[in-house]
Amino acid sequence: MKLIGPFSQLATLDNLPLRGALSDEQLNLQEGKGILISEGYIEEIGDFNALVEKADEVQRIPEGHVCIPSFVDCHTHICFAGSRAKDFSMRNAGKSYLQIAAEGGGIWSTVENTRKASGQDLVEGLKSRIEQLLRQGVTTVEVKSGYGLNYKDEIKMLRAIHTAQNTVSSDIISTCLAAHMKPKDFEESSERYLNYVLEEILTAVREENLSRRVDVFIEKSAFGIEESRAFLQKARILGFDITVHADQFTSGSARLAAELGAKSADHLEVLTDEDVAFLASSQTVAVALPGASLGLGEPFAPARKILDANGILAIASDWNPGSAPMGNLLAQASILATYEKLTTPELLSALTFRAAFALGLEDRGRLQKGMRADFQIYKADSIYEIPYRQGELKPCAVYILGTRAYGT
Ligand code: NIG
Ligand code: FE
Repeated sequence: MKLIGPFSQLATLDNLPLRGALSDEQLNLQEGKGILISEGYIEEIGDFNALVEKADEVQRIPEGHVCIPSFVDCHTHICFAGSRAKDFSMRNAGKSYLQIAAEGGGIWSTVENTRKASGQDLVEGLKSRIEQLLRQGVTTVEVKSGYGLNYKDEIKMLRAIHTAQNTVSSDIISTCLAAHMKPKDFEESSERYLNYVLEEILTAVREENLSRRVDVFIEKSAFGIEESRAFLQKARILGFDITVHADQFTSGSARLAAELGAKSADHLEVLTDEDVAFLASSQTVAVALPGASLGLGEPFAPARKILDANGILAIASDWNPGSAPMGNLLAQASILATYEKLTTPELLSALTFRAAFALGLEDRGRLQKGMRADFQIYKADSIYEIPYRQGELKPCAVYILGTRAYGT
C-alpha cells in the first residue's frame, strides 16, 4: 500500500450532503493527514504518522501543501475542429448567438469543420484539451458528440472519444449529442431528424458501446419541448441515461428534464423561480455553465437560489469552440461564486462529487475509504487560496487512481 502526505490541509468532502446549501464550517479542514491507497482506491485517511507503518511505500509531501479531490467536468464539447473566433468578435460587435446561428455561423460552422476532420485529427485535439484540463486538476471529463449530425460523423466523433481514452489517464465519459440541432442538409422536419437519430445513430451507438448517455439541445434554434420529450422517452427505453441543454435562452425545458428523471439539466441561465423550485425538488442535477455566460455575455444560472431550494448544483466548463471557448473550469466557477455568493464548500462540491453524481458516478469526488484515489495537491497554506486565486493557482500534482498523472 502507498501512503501520500502529510498535508498542511486536507478537505475530504466526505461529510457533505449531496444537495443543498453548505456553510463554511462544514468544510471540516484537517491537518497532518495522509491518504493510504490500495490498488488505486482509498484504503484509509488518517494521521500520517500513524499510517506510516501500514504502508509499503511512502511519498512525503513538504510543508505548505493542501489536498482536495480532483475535479469532474461534467459537461464539455471538446471534440471538435476549427475555431469560432470570428463569432466571438461578431457577438461583441452586437450580433446575438442565435442570429449568428441563423446566418450559418454558430454550431453549423463547427459541424462543417468537424465533418472535414479525420478521426485522428479529432483524437489529437481532444487529447491536448484533456491534458490541459488535467493540469487544472480535472481528472474526469464528460465529452459530447454533436458536431457530426449524421450517422457517419457522429459515429466518427464518438469513436474518436473512445480512442482518446486509450491515450490519457483521465476518465472520459462520452455523451451522444446528435440532437444538437437539425443539420442544414437534412431536408425533412426536426421530428423526422430526431427519429433518424434514434433509429440510425443511437442504435449503432448502443451496439458499438460508444456511449450510455443522450443529450438534446432544447431551444428555438434547435428542438422543441414536445418533440424532445418523445425523443428522450424513446432514448431512455433504448437504455440511455438522459441529460438536457435546458433553459439557456428560453425557459421550460429544465422542467421537462426533471419530469423525465434526467441525470442533469444544464445551462439554466433563464430558469424561472417556479422552475428553480421544481428542479431543486427532483433528483436531476442543476448544472451551471458559467463559461457559456462569460463567453456570450449572458446572465449566470441562479446557482444560489438552486442551493437555497435544496437542489443539487454542479458547475461545468461547457468548453466548446462557440459559446464557451475559455476552458478554465476553476476560473469560471470562482467567478460564478463571486456573483452568486457560493461558499467554498458549495464551490468545491459542485466541482467534485455533485458533478460526478450528474454523470451517475458515485465512486469519486470525495476522499474516503473505497473511493477512487483521484486528488490534487496545491502549494498553498490554505484551501481557501484555491477559489480566491480565481483559477490562477494551479495544482502542483494531480493523482488518478493513486498514481501521479501530472506534476511533481
Ligand atoms: O452548450 N447550447 C448549445 N450547445 C453548446 C454550444 C455549442 C457551440 O456553440 O458550438 C453550449 O453552449
Ligand atoms: Fe453545452
